[in-house]
Amino acid sequence: MPDHDLRLGVNIDHVATLRNARGGFYPDPCRAAHEAIMAGADGITAHLREDRRHIRDEDVERLKRQILTPLNFEMAATDEMVAIATRIRPHAACLVPEKREERTTEGGLDIIGGRERLSPMIDRLKAESIRVSLFVEPEPEVMQAAADLGAPVVELHTGAYAEATLSVDRDRVARELARLYRAATHGASLGLEIHAGHGLTEENVGDVAAIPEIVELNIGHALISAAIFVGLGDAVRAMRDAMDGGRARGTARP
Ligand code: PXP
Repeated sequence: MPDHDLRLGVNIDHVATLRNARGGFYPDPCRAAHEAIMAGADGITAHLREDRRHIRDEDVERLKRQILTPLNFEMAATDEMVAIATRIRPHAACLVPEKREERTTEGGLDIIGGRERLSPMIDRLKAESIRVSLFVEPEPEVMQAAADLGAPVVELHTGAYAEATLSVDRDRVARELARLYRAATHGASLGLEIHAGHGLTEENVGDVAAIPEIVELNIGHALISAAIFVGLGDAVRAMRDAMDGGRARGTARP
């Protein structure tokens, strides 16, 4: 397995989205996982949503059986999903907020208001040796709340940064990047392992990869989209290059 100081987790949800558009068996998310790994992915991420709109229960089971690379199981903080995670026992479980009507995961998990509900779920997953990560907004007080809950990992929501990069407003991009920097630095100082993801593309990933505290990026939509034109292997390799380029370049701390 490659040993990068910045890991790439490839989210294969949208391979399943395409499969489900016609029912049937292809394109197969497990095949996509294998191809991504061959091209250098350090992990595979799959989100089993409450409505099963893309990944299905049997996909997660096959992924767990077929791949040796760490499986990051994204899940809502519900009893149903905790039961599935503790049965399948993925390497990691990333708790995300989930609303049935949203197109994708639109905001971070409310771990301050949701503390009472989340705490026993985190403990239950940890008891099964599943590495728990919390998908959260990049704010210092949220880092503290994650540490208080005993979660070993946070995944910083990069959606606001990614949206900013689509605008022409350079100050907005700088502000969002500074938020990510501050949260990553603060989180790491509290002993949290820092991941990030959502909306990252070959074009905007470099500045996030440059934040030295971040050790894993989870990327899906841009990779599966690029795969339509260049194939998944080349898409993963190009993303890896963009990440490594950003990491090597570094950036001045805001
Ligand atoms: N990380 C988390 C927690 C997510 O919910 C998602 C979206 O499923 C991603 C990363 C990947 O986001 P994208 O598909 O925009 O790259």
